[in-house]
Amino acid sequence: MLFPSTTLLVVSTFLIGSSDAMNVIVMQPDDLEYFNAWTPPPNVRSVTVEFPSVGLPNIERLRKDGLQMMNAYTASPKCGTSRYSTITGKYPSRSRSSQRIASRENAYVSRVTIPTTKMQNQDCSTDNLAATFQRNNFATAMLGKWHLSRFNNNQYTYSNAVATVQNCGFDVVDGLYIENLAANENEFNNYSDGTFSHNMEWITYEAVKFINDQASKSKDFFMYFNPTVPHGSNDIEMALTQFNCTDTANGSLDFEPIVPGMMGTHTTCESYRKSIFERAESADDYGPIWLDDGVGGLIKALEDNNILDDTLFLFQIDHGMTTKGALYEGGNKIPQFIHYPSKIVGGSTSNALVSTIDIAPTIYDFAGITLDYDLDGISWKGVIENANNEEDFFKNERCLFFEMEQDRAVRCGCWKYLKINDITSSSTTITRGNQFGLSNLEHNAFDLCDGIDEYIADDGNNREAIAANLYEDSNRFTSALKQQFEDAMTCHLERTTHDAINQFASCGPQM
Ligand SMILES: *[C@@H]1O[C@H](CO)[C@@H](O)[C@H](O)[C@H]1NC(C)=O
Ligand SMILES: *[C@@H]1O[C@H](CO)[C@@H](O)[C@H](O)[C@H]1NC(C)=O
Ligand SMILES: *[C@@H]1O[C@H](CO)[C@@H](O)[C@H](O)[C@H]1NC(C)=O
Repeated sequence: MLFPSTTLLVVSTFLIGSSDAMNVIVMQPDDLEYFNAWTPPPNVRSVTVEFPSVGLPNIERLRKDGLQMMNAYTASPKCGTSRYSTITGKYPSRSRSSQRIASRENAYVSRVTIPTTKMQNQDCSTDNLAATFQRNNFATAMLGKWHLSRFNNNQYTYSNAVATVQNCGFDVVDGLYIENLAANENEFNNYSDGTFSHNMEWITYEAVKFINDQASKSKDFFMYFNPTVPHGSNDIEMALTQFNCTDTANGSLDFEPIVPGMMGTHTTCESYRKSIFERAESADDYGPIWLDDGVGGLIKALEDNNILDDTLFLFQIDHGMTTKGALYEGGNKIPQFIHYPSKIVGGSTSNALVSTIDIAPTIYDFAGITLDYDLDGISWKGVIENANNEEDFFKNERCLFFEMEQDRAVRCGCWKYLKINDITSSSTTITRGNQFGLSNLEHNAFDLCDGIDEYIADDGNNREAIAANLYEDSNRFTSALKQQFEDAMTCHLERTTHDAINQFASCGPQM
């Protein structure tokens, strides 16, 4: 074995389901914290991130009755760049604008930023989860924040925004926020009519309507559910107090979106919203409670239609918050839970190293859909069906790449290797590294397991903060190992540069 390896845990988490029906929900709240109960990586901000004292019973149900992936990553630690990788199954450096800008700058390394990862050309028309499910006769829907299309805010109308997203493979688009909300209330008057903010009741109501519609037709569906909550633009307290649940991006509703399973016994939005304040201990709790209530609404709709068991419900955050935008574990590592009672044993965990790029191929695999476009990810369905066969490969041999701006990182087994494109730049990885005392040397390498074989999540032993330039430690980071990392990185940069044509072979020493 080339790399210090993580222990193999042999547990089969797979059940043989009884029915062919399958629905899929992929949910990514915006900027949710990585709570302590979910085994986060070391927290460089030294803040504790606890659940509200009333808990997050619905999201926790997805985790505890589902599969928790202990080594899940985003391919890129920012909202739009991360979402691009989830919905396409590709590294964000593949996006057309990332490559076009690099080519204009005559740069070797594609520039992965927002807004370069908007979905253009075949990313929108064919190469994504929604378009693929649509081709395969599933009903498809998008609710919540999109952020993945070029859109001129000056010509904002809700129906233009909806049509833009529908173009990328969605039959139904509603409860839509085409971009981030602006930072302050009075800033988005130029974006719409200025009377909306975060509105979980609205997007959940529209999601439940879609679920009910499909269930009544016995139609399988794919739903992309991306709450704007708890993202800091337009703060949640203001949304809850200065707006009401009829204030939407689609104008003022002439009814209140009352959602069973979300609002407890409350029959008006006003009394429901008041209950959020009653349950919260601090302003930090408002967003998570509101979000969790929304998940409760979705679960109830699935239960009422008797389709909860046959629904693969994948929950993940878009990126970590502690080093958001930087290629450290606090930006790239994410919680990921898959609740799928008819196929996955509840209460299971997997240590496989998996990425947002794997979501699309894995879900296609579960749905029996033949992949008909090139992507970077690979399916981990086999890992949970038969840990003996594949978990070791995912954990110790396969390499995952991470991208932000023109910096890159790669993790193989326990080793992580960081390549800063321009050490004199003020890239986010350099800036956050300086801010939090993390190592930011060119070509730096970290042993995330500290010579043992288990990933270290302990705040007191942050392997990225220990300024061991392992280049110097030739006993462990041997020159042969170093060469393998450099080759893997070169391979990745070559396959994702603007003049690479259809190079999707994997990069990494195991090949
Ligand atoms: C938006 O509001 C209009 C008018 O109330 C309604 O007809 C339409 O269905 C809503 N949704 C979308 C996606 O336009
Ligand atoms: C909207 O207003 C904000 C400031 O209030 C400004 O930064 C932004 O550029 C404006 N957007 C458009 C599309 O005019
Ligand atoms: C919600 O707020 C709007 C103004 O933003 C107001 O016109 C409407 O009457 C309010 N609805 C309720 C149910 O309070």
